[in-house]
Amino acid sequence: MSVVFLNGHFLKEHEAKVSVFDRGFLFGDGVYEVIPVFNGKLFRFEEHIARLHRSLKAIDIQLDWKVNRWATLLNELIEKNAISQCSIYLQVTRGVQQQRDHVYDQEIVPTIMAMVSSLPKNNAKAFKEGISVITHEDIRWKRCDIKSISLLGNVMMRQVANQQGMTEAIVLKDGRATEGSMSNLFIVQNGKVITPQKNAELLGGVTRDLIVELLLHHQQPIEERDITLTELKNADEIWLSSSTKEIRAVVELDGKMIGEGKPGEMFRQTLELYLSYKNNLNASH
Ligand code: PDD
Repeated sequence: MSVVFLNGHFLKEHEAKVSVFDRGFLFGDGVYEVIPVFNGKLFRFEEHIARLHRSLKAIDIQLDWKVNRWATLLNELIEKNAISQCSIYLQVTRGVQQQRDHVYDQEIVPTIMAMVSSLPKNNAKAFKEGISVITHEDIRWKRCDIKSISLLGNVMMRQVANQQGMTEAIVLKDGRATEGSMSNLFIVQNGKVITPQKNAELLGGVTRDLIVELLLHHQQPIEERDITLTELKNADEIWLSSSTKEIRAVVELDGKMIGEGKPGEMFRQTLELYLSYKNNLNASH
């Protein structure tokens, strides 16, 4: 049985309960982070917390927590769960307001919850074989840069993919491919890696930023710009990234083969950079 952090207490999972008046429950009024833990260590922790602080600021939740306070909380959670490979789900909602009202009360206390979940077990297989995906028109709102817990659009698009036996849905907006329903997008075109620039149309992924950083550091050609649907369909390679699924190569898009129908050469090189970064980091602490 896992241990969950809720509003200052570490509780057994069945004891962790929130009010039906919590605005997260009633309005989806909150934000979250998913932070991977590899070998007992939080991966890209500062970057995740920086994004959490940006999300909180964007929705006007005032919580004066410094990075160290989050670190203490999450490390204690890892310790209490005696787990070394997992992901941490961290959620902050605006809190409990006794009357359901769209207008929020500035005085209410945010609800803070963190729990551990298992990491996907099939990453090694997915690295080798790649994944099949569909495209789906973006049905979400106009602030996809906020890591909001209101994920209905993402859930619906991902479910359509799942019903077709596909792993992910790549989101289309005005003839451009912006990201996945729960991942960021890269393509390879004539030896160059392209990923959409960060803006309100997509979530600025921590894994995305790490991949860009690693490619730049190793003098690999990388461009941040729009990707049209035509470019997506004709790409030599397509990759998707996220904290828990890491990097995966798309080998089939809407029933058509991408490249040679297996992860491409640039993908293998980039995965290598990512994995050695991850392993060195773990070894160096
Ligand atoms: N999702 N885009 C969307 C819409 C996402 O939901 C996610 C991550 C990403 C990738 O971001 P990062 O590299 O920081 O994980 C991009 C998480 C994992 C989730 O909702 O479970």
